[in-house]
Amino acid sequence: MSALDNAKLDSATDPDDIPVNPTSEPCLDDVIQRRFSRRDLLRGALGALAAGPLAGLAAGTAAATAEPQQPASSSPDDPTRFDFPEIPRGVDATHHVAPGYSAQVLIRWGDPLLPGAPPFDPQRPSAAAQRRQFGYNNDFIGYIPLPLGSSNSEHGLLCVNHEYTNTGLMFPGLADAEDPAAALTRAMVDTELAAHGGSVVEIHKVGGQWRLVPDSRFNRRIDALTTPIRIAGPAAGHPRLRTRADPTGSRVIGTLNNCAGGITPWGTYLMAEENFHLYFAGSLDEHPEQRNYARCGMPAPRYAWAEHHRRFDLNAEPNEANRFGWIVEMDPFDPDAPPVKRTALGRFKHEGAECIVNGDGRLVIYSGDDQRFEYLYKFVTEGTVTPLPEPPADPTGQTFAGRIDAAGQVHFREQDMHRRIAEARAANRDLLDSGTLYVARLDADGGVQWLPLVHGQGPLTAENGFNAQADVLIETRRAATLLGATPMDRPEDVEPNPVTGKVYVSLTNNKHRGKDGYADIDAANPRAENLWGQVLELTPTDGDHAADTARWDLLVRAGDPTDPAVGAHWNPATTEHGWFACPDNCAVDPAGRLWIATDQGGGWPVTSGGADGVYALETEGPGRGTARAFFRVPVGAEMCGPRFTPDGRTLFVAVQHPAADGTEAYPGFERSSTFEYPATRWPDFADGIPPRPSVVAITRDDGGEIGG
Ligand code: FEO
Ligand code: CA
Ligand code: CA
Repeated sequence: MSALDNAKLDSATDPDDIPVNPTSEPCLDDVIQRRFSRRDLLRGALGALAAGPLAGLAAGTAAATAEPQQPASSSPDDPTRFDFPEIPRGVDATHHVAPGYSAQVLIRWGDPLLPGAPPFDPQRPSAAAQRRQFGYNNDFIGYIPLPLGSSNSEHGLLCVNHEYTNTGLMFPGLADAEDPAAALTRAMVDTELAAHGGSVVEIHKVGGQWRLVPDSRFNRRIDALTTPIRIAGPAAGHPRLRTRADPTGSRVIGTLNNCAGGITPWGTYLMAEENFHLYFAGSLDEHPEQRNYARCGMPAPRYAWAEHHRRFDLNAEPNEANRFGWIVEMDPFDPDAPPVKRTALGRFKHEGAECIVNGDGRLVIYSGDDQRFEYLYKFVTEGTVTPLPEPPADPTGQTFAGRIDAAGQVHFREQDMHRRIAEARAANRDLLDSGTLYVARLDADGGVQWLPLVHGQGPLTAENGFNAQADVLIETRRAATLLGATPMDRPEDVEPNPVTGKVYVSLTNNKHRGKDGYADIDAANPRAENLWGQVLELTPTDGDHAADTARWDLLVRAGDPTDPAVGAHWNPATTEHGWFACPDNCAVDPAGRLWIATDQGGGWPVTSGGADGVYALETEGPGRGTARAFFRVPVGAEMCGPRFTPDGRTLFVAVQHPAADGTEAYPGFERSSTFEYPATRWPDFADGIPPRPSVVAITRDDGGEIGG
């Protein structure tokens, strides 16, 4: 593979791949023309649809064709703290986990979640059913132990984002339609809206197996069709957020493109709105938000939503798109409270929102803006976190505050503890509405300068169109550019390491870096036409996450270390199976080691030659910079999620869009997937059942900690 042979990537453009930062991008029209049209997306590759000799593979026999599992040998001189044998690089119809571990499919798209939910029936799409079932394309996974405040690793709430929908894989009949867009019905569109958002799922480990708690009072769906959401913080009520349906600018229906996220110390769930631009259609000619919306990559609709819901028409409802691109805080313990968009954290394509309590008690939330040449941010609260009271140990397994019965009802036996928890949570309730948003400038000498995005400071004044802090927050990207932030190679997940105090940033890739008309390489983004990405390490000054300075280092430069043209950099102990490409979501285990999920998109044949997966990455000691292959997804899927229970004995992962990406290069299949003919029917492998995004729970067969 040549470093410059990225032609295949052009056929699989991810929305995050397309730069819109005018400081690094020559011509917006050019960018828009490079996008897939929605029509193409719905169709798949129609020319390849005839049911040929390979149809059997797609019809459910693919699991049997999975290659035998041959664990790669581990080096006797392995300098890492990991003790599992690696899985081999490869791609096939199913998932693989390291020997000695089990991977249990816990919940799938369409599984009933709320009372009265009907069974999954992909032939009859229904928004009413989907609103009560697990959504599509699971991405972020959070785990909140029950009872709240404990570190119970066998009973808790999973908080799962449903980022987007793959229309052509979700619904029957579109691939064969003369006009796929016309065949997309209002019922299908509404089902798509209902399949977005998030789910809260109560789970319990019984006899070593995780189970859903049926009819739990905590089970909940957040969607884009019906869920009322409050808007709070400095931009709430601003005229640029007002619409005909909401003249107050303080309430919006739904949340969109929820990618990664975070869990706060007081047990709320943060949902990051990422590629919100994909849902809006219309023209920006003489549009009041022309500059703002163009900077977000609009118009570039990938969905037919505007044809059925006027608010997604940029011209019919010019301010609606300003009401997306925020961090949403949802309280799983208060089913009556609407989720809240916290505008103080800025509006951009938020990848995630991972938190750490700073030494001084303030909360610091890190967030990447996932697009090529966009920036890295952090938010520091003005107030301090009121910690939850410590629960006393309870060997009976009952909660310190009481007992949760089979119906999910909490029976309190210690009213005082209940009151103290409620008081602490109330004190934190609006903590995210006041604070300072910063953007990063990474200097060649290894220094990081965190630049405050504060109205009236520096260039963020009325002369530049910022009349109030609300304007700075609504147009965060433009404000950050004026401050001189460093354009990065697609910042994805940003994960503070509570064990070491360092922070890890996944930078996925940037094939335009260094090309004519785009930003050149720099010290932190050191490779031109970077198809493989890098993992950045930040060390806050004096361990202070609120400080306005830090140091940066590159932990690894991803890609094939044996190809000099790639310019990868790994610890030499990394094996032929262990190196990865395109780091995306990540997690830190209780020992402080990093676990990276990859997202190569349709570029996998070029970037690594294997499916996405989870890779353990040593961060300290002689093994620092060594990666090891732990888990692999089925063909066409992306790896999302990873989240450990507090004891490190379960790793939850999200398998997103199986059969979707890059199946044209899948040996023996070699076409785009459709509902009728997908590259895999994972995880059901049943005739007529399409591939289903699912959450998987990984445990060690001897019950020990993941990774050793
Ligand atoms: Fe939704 Fe940037 O991944
Ligand atoms: Ca991601
Ligand atoms: Ca991704």
